[in-house]
Amino acid sequence: ERVDWNPEDVGKGAFDHYMLKEIHNQSTSLSKTIRGRVDPDEGKVALDELDPEILDGVENVHLVACGTSYHAALFGARMLTDAGVRARVFRASEYAKMAGPTSDGTLVIPVTQSGETADTLSALRTATERDASTVTVTNVVGSTAAREADESVFIRAGPEIGVAATKTFTSQVVTLILLSQKIAAELPDASPREDLSELLAALEQIPNHIDHVVETSRAEELASRLLEYDAYFFIGRGMSRPVALEGALKFKEITYEHAEGFASGQLKHGPLALVTSQTPVFGLFTGEDAEKTVTNAKEAQTRGAEIIGVGPADGPGVAESDAYLEVPDTHPVCQNLLANIQLQLVSYHTAKQLDRAIDKPRNLAKSVTVQ
Ligand code: G6P
Repeated sequence: ERVDWNPEDVGKGAFDHYMLKEIHNQSTSLSKTIRGRVDPDEGKVALDELDPEILDGVENVHLVACGTSYHAALFGARMLTDAGVRARVFRASEYAKMAGPTSDGTLVIPVTQSGETADTLSALRTATERDASTVTVTNVVGSTAAREADESVFIRAGPEIGVAATKTFTSQVVTLILLSQKIAAELPDASPREDLSELLAALEQIPNHIDHVVETSRAEELASRLLEYDAYFFIGRGMSRPVALEGALKFKEITYEHAEGFASGQLKHGPLALVTSQTPVFGLFTGEDAEKTVTNAKEAQTRGAEIIGVGPADGPGVAESDAYLEVPDTHPVCQNLLANIQLQLVSYHTAKQLDRAIDKPRNLAKSVTVQ
């Protein structure tokens, strides 16, 4: 019998690492995530695989996840709360033992690329025991999460080989953006964003924007200048906060350098004590809260830190930044996703110049199946 396999999905092709291939592949993978699911003219999201009955009687939403998926969940929760849905995010490892918040009016959304992470499965089972409805957002059809949840929404990113998640994060965030608006349309006290048509139109453009970022990024030359430092901070506010956290996670995973992400407003409540001329600060100057993040970045700059801004070409932080990575000037929600791709490239090129084991970083696994 003939086995069908797409060589594009298997080898590294012309790329030195799977991670770089997967970063470059994001315009294609995201097109698949979006295909048939957005209708900007009608201002509607179509997630046909989701039976709307699952949303009957839902009063609040819990997202549970680990690692990179947790950051995607933070993004999704912010989309939900902005639409008037009561939403909280939990680290899956904490959820099972937490008495109280889950009820039969709760919709629990386990976000898991593999669908096999032990802590996330445990949280899913806790939700089921407490009579909550469950909808998993996952990449793997037939995974344990997909089999055990009431419903599944697939992110359709295709196989990801690099241990550090890249294209699957992007597809998770976009799937959660769509799901959030679907939920908001169904729940009585919530409503989709007023600018949903513009957002959906911008989502259709993101694959082109991703290609542009990947082709024009100056992350490689920036990385060569950053090697001398020992600690790196990433700050963001609102919807750029999960991007700051994810940027720091990716950086520490594959460079083995110390990196932390913070809500930019948190900086002066502790982390600023760590800031010196030896600690570059990545400022996520994207989204609706960019100006305040610029103000926070300047506080770090006053202490001698180099500021690496990420934002649109005429954004609020250009003049303040010591180095600047550009993203297309699209819808503010989408700018955050494009900023994340710049940070993926920074992590990749820094790790490469440090000669790290990029696709298989030490001590880490693609899927963590023990609690
Ligand atoms: C591991 C991987 C991460 C991933 C996390 C959650 O830590 O190294 O890349 O984000 O597990 O995995 P999941 O498959 O549940 O998204």
